[in-house]
Amino acid sequence: MSTQATLFCLLLIIAPLITAASTPTSPTEKLTHLHFYFHEVDSGPNATVVTPVTLHRNTTFGDINLFDNTLRVGPQPDSTLIGGAQGMGVHAALDGSQGLTAINFFFTAGEYNGSSLATLGVIKASGPSDRNIVGGTGKFRFARGYMLSKLVNSTATSLVVEFDMYIMHF
Ligand SMILES: *[C@@H]1O[C@H](CO)[C@@H](O)[C@H](O)[C@H]1NC(C)=O
Ligand SMILES: *[C@@H]1O[C@H](CO)[C@@H](O)[C@H](O)[C@H]1NC(C)=O
Ligand SMILES: *[C@@H]1O[C@H](CO)[C@@H](O)[C@H](O)[C@H]1NC(C)=O
Ligand SMILES: *[C@@H]1O[C@H](CO)[C@@H](O)[C@H](O)[C@H]1NC(C)=O
Repeated sequence: MSTQATLFCLLLIIAPLITAASTPTSPTEKLTHLHFYFHEVDSGPNATVVTPVTLHRNTTFGDINLFDNTLRVGPQPDSTLIGGAQGMGVHAALDGSQGLTAINFFFTAGEYNGSSLATLGVIKASGPSDRNIVGGTGKFRFARGYMLSKLVNSTATSLVVEFDMYIMHF
């Protein structure tokens, strides 16, 4: 064999070894379940939601709400604060039956303090919603999953929504 051919054969044998050696072992994905309550104040001096876009028609189609709501351990307004939900709701259905939400959930206490989850999906006016978790930061990098939510308390000036998030991440 010529020197060149020998070198080529050697490379063929060594190359896969180098690749194998430099590939990090795949981290294992885990499933995390988070359960909390989303608190919104609809009116008054401490309102956490505004409607900067409305067409003032007899339907809500086209309206946009922006909110900066709190996340708490329980349904009571004074229950322990664990984070926030900043985002928007777009009234995207002609018949008003559902809307589109884009919300960033962030945590300020506990194991996930400093981490956040980006979500996008459809919220139903009539009942529970099933929305996408499309990404995350901090301990939730590479996150994906889904979140189930349902209204548990609604007054003239506030509402409370219960959330269950199921998150796949490393
Ligand atoms: C608004 O928030 C302030 C500060 O937390 C509080 O003192 C006040 O009672 C709140 N007002 C209402 C109407 O909830
Ligand atoms: C809403 O407004 C549209 C157009 O202005 C009208 O045709 C329709 O009848 C109205 N619907 C109701 C329920 O008032
Ligand atoms: C519903 O919300 C109101 C206003 O925040 C609160 O006073 C009441 O205790 C809540 N009820 C339940 C069952 O959580
Ligand atoms: C959350 O993290 C921030 C920044 O590291 C820290 O200042 C704060 O005390 C933490 N909060 C809780 C409740 O652990």
